[in-house]
Amino acid sequence: MMERDIKEILLTEEQIQARIAELGAELSREYADKNPVVIGVLKGVVVFYADMVRKITVPCEMDFMAISSYSGTNSTGKAIVKKDIGVDIKGRHVLILEDIYDTGNSLSFTYEYLMAKEPASIKICTLLDKPGRRKPGITLQPEYVGFTIPNAFVVGYGLDYNEKYRNLPFVGILKPEVYQK
Ligand code: IMP
Ligand code: MG
Repeated sequence: MMERDIKEILLTEEQIQARIAELGAELSREYADKNPVVIGVLKGVVVFYADMVRKITVPCEMDFMAISSYSGTNSTGKAIVKKDIGVDIKGRHVLILEDIYDTGNSLSFTYEYLMAKEPASIKICTLLDKPGRRKPGITLQPEYVGFTIPNAFVVGYGLDYNEKYRNLPFVGILKPEVYQK
């Protein structure tokens, strides 16, 4: 049972869905008549992405990219593009969807990488924000944040520890002994 490794449920399915409905209303207003390209950063975003786009009630295009990310619980501080987007975003409005804004390395990298493709605008929507973990010097601030959370390692609803727990329907705090052993 995956649940046995969870110390505490931080966000229930119901809380997540209620917040996504709110964000959906905001994003639908923001992107009415803009036909944005909604870019998800794989793999952690997939569950949030699928729920989020279904609450955006205006036309949009979907695309995905993948960059190198965490191994275990430590950030490498560097990133490379493992899978690029397939649409030309020059002159387009881009909405980046992310699972979590932690040290800020990944999202800053993604933002700069996509900025270089000269879109009309880029805004960021992250399900989770851990401001207490931000690396000094990182100033990027997501326009849309689902939940601001404390400095704990969380899993579920797309987020993994060593590729496990992504399919838990809630966001939970992993028992420290799970990753300390
Ligand atoms: P960054 O530190 O902001 O660059 O976060 C990079 C990536 O680390 C995120 O996109 C997640 O995939 C992963 N990550 C950061 N914090 C957590 C966490 O608490 N649980 C699971 N993955 C995390
Ligand atoms: Mg990850």
